[in-house]
Amino acid sequence: MDRPEPFRDLDWDPKRARELGERALDLWVELLEKLPDLSIGRRERAEEVRAAVSLDVPDEPMPLDDLMAHLRSVVLEHSMYPGHPGFMAYVSGAGTVPGVAGDLIAAAVNQNVGGWRLSPAASEIELNLTKWLAAQFGLPEGSGGLLTSGGAMANFIGLKAARDAKGGKEVRARGVQGEPRMTLYASEEVHSVVDRAADMLGLGTQACRHIAIDDRFRMRPDEVRRSIEMDLTDRSRPIAIVASAGSVATGSIDPLNELADLADEYGLWLHVDGAASWPTTFARSTPASSAPTRSRSTPTSGCTRRTRADVSSCETSRCSASPSVCIRATSTKTSTRRAAGPISHRWARSSRAASKR
Ligand SMILES: Cc1ncc(COP(=O)(O)O)c(C=O)c1O
Repeated sequence: MDRPEPFRDLDWDPKRARELGERALDLWVELLEKLPDLSIGRRERAEEVRAAVSLDVPDEPMPLDDLMAHLRSVVLEHSMYPGHPGFMAYVSGAGTVPGVAGDLIAAAVNQNVGGWRLSPAASEIELNLTKWLAAQFGLPEGSGGLLTSGGAMANFIGLKAARDAKGGKEVRARGVQGEPRMTLYASEEVHSVVDRAADMLGLGTQACRHIAIDDRFRMRPDEVRRSIEMDLTDRSRPIAIVASAGSVATGSIDPLNELADLADEYGLWLHVDGAASWPTTFARSTPASSAPTRSRSTPTSGCTRRTRADVSSCETSRCSASPSVCIRATSTKTSTRRAAGPISHRWARSSRAASKR
């Protein structure tokens, strides 16, 4: 049988790779040089941007000079710059110079971290990094986690762990049909990704009870209790309290210790969404030596935007734009599968101290 001729279009030799790499490097350096004088955003209309950047997919490769001219226009004339020194809006990370180099190298080896054999070094780096992060937060020996593509996925994985741990042994196989309705308790300020996770987990967005906040935008534990009690009377099955350690709109930190105690009292999972600011808030306030004295099931998600360089070096190119971490710790109450999982809640004391500052 005749074998088809292999396509060699993208199979470049190292010399040609260097030529393209150096041109890309020049553009990056030009961006860094010009960044302070560029306008952070632009007032172009969508049609204008579309006309400038959308090319017909060509049959033949574009000459390198044309390609670089096009990329230059994309980068310098039609983009918005979260890395600009004057960028104060929204929650996007600025990106870092080492992170760019990390992304290049991660893309060069293009590892699939779905399996250890497919990515021996990257998998070990991921484990080591999440273990280190867990230790920074005072979690027990054996803690670890996963790097995810962002806060939405970290929350989803954490709440999947909650559903599986609290939904009964068969929930993964049987699904949630016919069960008493499983319910989650999160503040009115919680990020919408929590509702989305409830939707994707088959719990339904109505499973997420939005609890009233106090005058500092923090979830009110008395209202959580009231809502849990109502649901128990209604024969629903409360499974998790979802606290925010830095809410997206105001940065408020829910009263984590009280919520952890409530979770203990009712046998619920405590999930903490730290995607906006938990790692930095907490890392500053918690000496690594303040190891937890009590362990329980508490999954967390945290976006490590400010340690992007650390994270991007062990992610595939697909995942490095908005790195997040889903941390688990071993616990007597839950399995130690390598997935989003439980951590201790002793750290809540430090976070509470931080929230008072
Ligand atoms: C508190 C909080 N949770 C979750 C998310 C979702 O994170 P991502 O956009 O990385 O998926 C955000 C994003 O800003 C957030 O601030």
